[in-house]
Amino acid sequence: MEQKILLEHAFKAMENAYAPYSHFRVGACVVMKDGTYFYGANIENASFGGTNCGERSAVFAAYSNGYRKDDIEALAIVSEGHRLAAPCGICRQVLSELLNQKTPILLATKSGLFKETNIEELLPMQFNGDDLA
Ligand code: THU
Repeated sequence: MEQKILLEHAFKAMENAYAPYSHFRVGACVVMKDGTYFYGANIENASFGGTNCGERSAVFAAYSNGYRKDDIEALAIVSEGHRLAAPCGICRQVLSELLNQKTPILLATKSGLFKETNIEELLPMQFNGDDLA
């Protein structure tokens, strides 16, 4: 997986953000092991709780097309802010179930900041389906 290309796809996806309230655009792209890309952007709502973050949009797109966590090679999340936009708490919870623990998560900004992480690092002590058993 070429990280630079994945990030370029995520920046392209960011152009589709619908962020009339925050004016903060987020783009995301998931690359599958078979080479397929799925895109996501933040989609806001006047009822703010109805907003969907960019990374959730991208991972939901992959799942909606029949892919599952083992099929995912990496996720890129990009933003225009002055610092890296790490996933919010809701996204961390969602990603902890829909990604493998060590699947690379690439964070980048338009200004050139970059960090690679994974959900194990972003969300320790996870609550998951095992807790419901
Ligand atoms: N946002 C994301 O898309 N991903 C994150 O991880 C952080 C926040 C979006 C949600 C909202 O549209 C805007 O950024 C401001 O919170």
